[in-house]
Amino acid sequence: MNELDLRTHCRDRGLAEHELDADPMRQFHMWFDEWLGTDPLEPNAMALATADAQGVPSVRIVLLKGLANEGFSFFTNYDSEKGMDLAANPNAALCFYWMPFERQVRVTGKVARVPRKETEAYFRSRPRGSQIGAWASKQSAVLADRATLERDALDAEARFKGQEIPPPPQWGGYLLKPDAVEFWQGRSSRLHDRFRYTRKGRGWLVERLYP
Ligand SMILES: Cc1cc2nc3c(=O)[nH]c(=O)nc-3n(C[C@H](O)[C@H](O)[C@H](O)COP(=O)(O)O)c2cc1C
Repeated sequence: MNELDLRTHCRDRGLAEHELDADPMRQFHMWFDEWLGTDPLEPNAMALATADAQGVPSVRIVLLKGLANEGFSFFTNYDSEKGMDLAANPNAALCFYWMPFERQVRVTGKVARVPRKETEAYFRSRPRGSQIGAWASKQSAVLADRATLERDALDAEARFKGQEIPPPPQWGGYLLKPDAVEFWQGRSSRLHDRFRYTRKGRGWLVERLYP
């Protein structure tokens, strides 16, 4: 087979203007709840795109950890490659793909670090192994070998033996506040429905886009 022909049957379930909430975060919640209803693995996985000071892009999966404060939050290492990108250029993009519904959501906006208290509260909720891992990992730096990582994890475990583990200083959350959110509903014959929200005054402008 030279060409991948993996098209699945399209249910052609449309998305109409009148179904859309005036607020994209509420619209996102509606779609996200439907997605959660399918009991997916890693339901909160999302692609996060950043670009460095030269505009060179980079994309990776992270987990969506909050939808409060009118934005999307995730946690990571501030010294990682993405952290460096975001320090130089706070513009970022997210992309969600929810296959059973043939839906995609794209978000662009600027990120800011979440208050330290929020990072501490989230970190406290993590399993101890993940907390140790956060201390052991110099995320995105070159690692000589696996043994070094395992030794670093043992060192972190010894350091915090019998104590509560705080988040490492270089680890924390970001909140991406959207400037634009696009909801894409797959339909047959590539005649998909697309609606883009962009900020207008204190509300949002909603426009239909060609697929
Ligand atoms: C399903 C999945 C979930 C992930 N969740 C996170 C996350 O929440 N935070 C994080 O820093 N990295 C997460 N990663 C790892 C990132 O994809 C990436 O490898 C890491 O953050 C380093 O990226 P960077 O070098 O671009 O900074 C996840 C990877 C996968 C596949």
